[in-house]
Amino acid sequence: MKLVIANWKMNKTLPEVRAFVETFSREIESVKNVTVGIAAPFPFLAAARDPQERWWVVGQDCSAEKSGAFTGEVSADMLASERCRAVLIGHSERRRHFGEGEEILAKKLTRAAEALLQPVLCVGETLAEREAGKTEAVLRRQLSIFSGAGAVAYEPVWAIGTGRNATPEEAEETMAFIARELSGKLDAPPILYGGSVTPDNAAGLVRCRSFAGFLVGGASLDPHTFSAICRSAG
Ligand code: 13P
Repeated sequence: MKLVIANWKMNKTLPEVRAFVETFSREIESVKNVTVGIAAPFPFLAAARDPQERWWVVGQDCSAEKSGAFTGEVSADMLASERCRAVLIGHSERRRHFGEGEEILAKKLTRAAEALLQPVLCVGETLAEREAGKTEAVLRRQLSIFSGAGAVAYEPVWAIGTGRNATPEEAEETMAFIARELSGKLDAPPILYGGSVTPDNAAGLVRCRSFAGFLVGGASLDPHTFSAICRSAG
C-alpha cells in the first residue's frame, strides 16, 4: 500500500474545503492500493474528514508541548481527538519560517507517538546545501531524531513550490541514502517524495525503487489533479 498525503498548507476556506470533499468523495472511488491523507489546516480537520473514512485526516504540525498555556498551539492529543491518523513534523516551511530545529522536532515526534499519531518526518536539503555537497550530512542530521514509527518524506527544498521536481534519478539516489541511514534503526519506514509533484511527473517518480508515496503541495488543492496523482501511485 502506498501513502499519498495532500499538504494544503495555509490554503482554502471552509466552503472550498467542502467543495473539495464533495468532488474528492467521487474521485477516491477510482484510487486503488493507496492510503490517502489530507493535511488540512487545523480549523478544517473535521470538514476535511470523510464520513466513510476512505481517507485519513492529517495534522500539518503539532506542538512540542503536551498541553497548557501555549496560546495558538495545537497539541498532538487534540489532533488525535479530531481523529487525525498522522501528523507532519519538520516540514521545511516550519524549519525555515519558524526556526524549528532538531531539538524541538524531537519533542514533537515524542508528542505524536504518545498520541498514537503516525509522524511523517519531513527532511530535505536546500539548493545551497546540495551545491556545496552537503546533502548527505544535512539529511543525516535531520534523520538522527527519527525514532522508528511513521514515515519519512524526502522534500528537497529547491523542489518545493518551484515547479522544478527532482528527476527520478535524483530522487532515487537520495531516497536510497535515506533508506540506508534508517536501515539499522527499524523496519524500512515508507519514504515519500515531495516537491512539485504533478500528474505529469508522478509516473516517473513512482518507478523509483525506494518510492513509497507522495507528499503533494500545490497540486493537491484541486481534487481532480490530486486524485490523478493518487491513481498514479497505486
Ligand atoms: P509543492 O508540491 O507545492 O512543491 O509542495 C510540496 C510540499 O511542500 C508538500 O509538503
